[in-house]
Amino acid sequence: MAPSDRREFLQGLVGAALLGTGCGKALQASTRSSASLAEDGLRRHAEARGLFYGAATGNRRLKEDKAFADTFVRECGLLVPESELKWQVLRPAADRFDFANSDWMVDFATQHGLLVRGHTLVWSQRLPAWLTENAGTANPEQGLINHIQTVMRRYAGKMHSWDVVNEALEPTDHLPNSLRKSLWLDKVGPDYIDLAFRTAAQADPKALLVYNENHLDYDVRPDEVKRQATLELLSRLRTAGSPVQALGIQAHLRSDENRFDPKKLRDFLAQVAKLGLKIIISELDVADASLPADITTRDQAVAAQYSAYLAAALDEPAVTGVITWGLSDRYTWLSEYRPRPDKLPVRPLPLDADLKHKPAWDAVAKAFDAAPKR
Ligand code: XIL
Repeated sequence: MAPSDRREFLQGLVGAALLGTGCGKALQASTRSSASLAEDGLRRHAEARGLFYGAATGNRRLKEDKAFADTFVRECGLLVPESELKWQVLRPAADRFDFANSDWMVDFATQHGLLVRGHTLVWSQRLPAWLTENAGTANPEQGLINHIQTVMRRYAGKMHSWDVVNEALEPTDHLPNSLRKSLWLDKVGPDYIDLAFRTAAQADPKALLVYNENHLDYDVRPDEVKRQATLELLSRLRTAGSPVQALGIQAHLRSDENRFDPKKLRDFLAQVAKLGLKIIISELDVADASLPADITTRDQAVAAQYSAYLAAALDEPAVTGVITWGLSDRYTWLSEYRPRPDKLPVRPLPLDADLKHKPAWDAVAKAFDAAPKR
């Protein structure tokens, strides 16, 4: 489609979506035309419904790729440093913190009016060798507390939210309460999750404290078991008075996965909400590794997953925002982690590698436009 046709097509889509959600009158009455909305980034579509939209990325891409940085600021209302706040980057040695890259990201976000989400304080992966190889610290519990306090206090008041604990569950590890095998479980014991949330609440009382988890999305047995284990963990934490405030649902989707059941997802979200928790769709993308090579077919299948998933998720009022794990196919972890067997570049995100809108972008914008207002 030529750019001008494409623009008209988009305007039509956005206009139709707004009319379909009862915003038609407001749209006609306002001086703001559907054309300007189509030109706006996804953040505006989200914010119009009281939601937020953001993406994860790395500091080098923002520093070295001006076109990407400009697009990022136009599209996103929130930034997640993709690796800069992980132990492996922050902790070159047991007695040292290196905040150079994370400071740069927080400054970039502040300068451009973006919220920042911290990812992540406690995770079994991306740990430095000094920690994994010789347990690094004589007192791992104190080491964990010290890490959370030092990092959170540095950015206190500046963070929208923190993934305090990431991926603590793995039912196939067959441990009590479906806890995942990890250094933290091993060295601190099963209460490390509660300890992390209590420490976090004191270190930065303003940030929303999130438990972030993967594989919660499909109507398949492993995801069903993971959903149950997650509800049980959150419920135990709430009963114990642990200050967890939200669930982050990673939502790394697969476009070949046709066992998505919107009702199963909605029921799960409603149960999380009933525990008094907010919900963030925290790492959304759609892997296209097993789709045919044809770009139109692929892009439509990826967009269809975005549409179906977000229609179900945004229906739940406790869902406050959506974050994609990357913004443009130019930079995505899936190039490395879920490459295509035919070696063609992967296309999992809202913008293509030239920073142009794809059907996935239209799908996300329309899902926001159709979402009940918060
Ligand atoms: C990934 C990053 O995108 C990669 O660049 C990095 O090398 C490995 O981690 N779930 C998470 C994220 O919580 O931290 C992961 O990010 C993707 C899966």
